[in-house]
Amino acid sequence: MRLRRFRRTPTLRRLVRETRLSPDNLVLPLFVCPGAGVEKPVGSMPGVAQQSVDRLVETCRAAFAEGIRTVLLFGIPEHKDATGSSAWSSDGIVQRALRALTSDVPGLVKIADVCFCEYTSHGHCGPTSEDGSTVKNDETVQRLVRQAVNHAKAGAAVIAPSGMMDGTVGALRRGLDAAGFAGVSILAYAVKYASAFYGPFRDAADSAPAFGDRRSYQMDPARGVEEALLEARLDVEQGADMVMVKPAGPYLDVVAAVRGAVDVPVVAYQVSGEYAMLEAASRNGWIDRERAVLESLLSIKRAGADLVITYYAELLAKLIEK
Ligand code: PBG
Repeated sequence: MRLRRFRRTPTLRRLVRETRLSPDNLVLPLFVCPGAGVEKPVGSMPGVAQQSVDRLVETCRAAFAEGIRTVLLFGIPEHKDATGSSAWSSDGIVQRALRALTSDVPGLVKIADVCFCEYTSHGHCGPTSEDGSTVKNDETVQRLVRQAVNHAKAGAAVIAPSGMMDGTVGALRRGLDAAGFAGVSILAYAVKYASAFYGPFRDAADSAPAFGDRRSYQMDPARGVEEALLEARLDVEQGADMVMVKPAGPYLDVVAAVRGAVDVPVVAYQVSGEYAMLEAASRNGWIDRERAVLESLLSIKRAGADLVITYYAELLAKLIEK
């Protein structure tokens, strides 16, 4: 009976738990699109929709009331071009959303994803070489700085570069400081794998690459944790205030290793494909949705994540309270 003694009653089980969940550490990703009154469901992510600014404000108000006080914004612009120029327009879709949320949902922490894949006509994370074979690193970084400063002006508290270009974090820090935004923090997508689990997101953000894939800039899933630690440490050295591991569930070994190696908060992103799998199985009656969602979050936190970005943030806030 020795091992079973603490499992005997609910109170004993609670007494010895080390992993605590709180809505304070959850971040809700949202997709904002042009128009008014628009709610466009994402086929591969049941329960998730692209929303126009007015609807987004309502979603954020409700989330805030439930204890989800941080959101991560992705934009679907009116038009796309080869360089993704609408990303840094002060009238851009995310900039408009940021201004509306600043005035209508006070206290909400807004994280702005900076990347170009939602804004370029070819769907890559920055301008490509003439033959389309590679994304130009330094040109992309320069443009990311413009996009980030614009987001900061519109009210973003945190800038999250997701494009995996080398040297991004340092350039963003210098650019934000020079523009008077020393108080805006950087959440680096430090350890981001070239993952099949982003499939539904590309549907949600309308950002699938028109040719090729992202393996020349995102990480190879078969590499060891050493590369992950190098990525994370370099980003911290360049000024990252938080580092992310993405996806979360299939990479818990990496989450644990990064937690042990850096002295800033570690953020794990439970991505669209992880959400889609849980939804598909629950909708078929193959797993118990609430228990599986809670267990997935518990595991990510147990591995060492301080914060979790998840499309389940609102559901989890309710489940945690139970
Ligand atoms: C943009 C970006 C992606 C995700 C977050 N930011 C897609 C990609 O890299 O292809 C994926 C998020 C998810 O799957 O939920 N660079």
